[in-house]
Amino acid sequence: MKKGMRPLIVGNWKMNPQTLSLAVKLVTSLKKKLVGKKLREAEVVIAPPYVHLESIKKLKGTGNKQFSLGAQNVHPAKLGAFTGEVSVPMLKDLGVSYVIVGHSERRALGEKDEFINKKLHAVLKAGLAGIVCVGESKRDHAGQYLSYIENQVRAALLGIPKAKLPGVVIAYEPLWAIGTGHNDTPHNVHEMSLFIEKVIAHMYGRNYAQKVRIIYGGSVNKRNARELYHEGMMSGFLVGGASLHADEFIEIIKATQGK
Ligand code: PGA
Repeated sequence: MKKGMRPLIVGNWKMNPQTLSLAVKLVTSLKKKLVGKKLREAEVVIAPPYVHLESIKKLKGTGNKQFSLGAQNVHPAKLGAFTGEVSVPMLKDLGVSYVIVGHSERRALGEKDEFINKKLHAVLKAGLAGIVCVGESKRDHAGQYLSYIENQVRAALLGIPKAKLPGVVIAYEPLWAIGTGHNDTPHNVHEMSLFIEKVIAHMYGRNYAQKVRIIYGGSVNKRNARELYHEGMMSGFLVGGASLHADEFIEIIKATQGK
């Protein structure tokens, strides 16, 4: 938990579930569980596959503050000859307010820092929030992974104006923790968030760096969320697998409430 910041919990559904009816079922059950729970402190984002966004928006209803819509990716151009891609204006039109950029599963498909930076520019310019994923594939004793993370953060933020920083979320997701069941420790997660904040402070100054939310992702579940959030002092979580189970996801959200 970071002082003065509402926890941000993002459910990254990845390429799940397989059908629209399963997606509807999941959101319906999540909505039911969110009602009546005193979770007002938390900001919950659901990032389903593109094809489910519109139906989920309808289910959400207008003016419903229970959760916001997120997208898992975007193309930096506004429109044009980009087969298979989706633009920021299209997402904005659908009611999306958060966009994940540079997830390691996209980087594994060949996305480079420069392209991720273009995406972030497009997202922030349109007034949406960008969730930038960074993370090392392994840790070395010499600490080289720290310069790797620093480069990822610097490259993603290149040319981003100070005034846009409140719209930036950095998701620290060590690759070895994603989908493996081996989460990072609260101690390490805390060190990493301080490190990332320091990198941003070098770029923009301390006051601005504090406006950037730093969240953790990588095998977050209902058993480790409380410790990771409170002792790891994170601003929230990017949750993959566990966000596909309404009960588990709610427990993760609850773990960020109070102390
Ligand atoms: P996981 O995925 O929670 O299933 O480890 C996190 C992510 O990839 O964002």
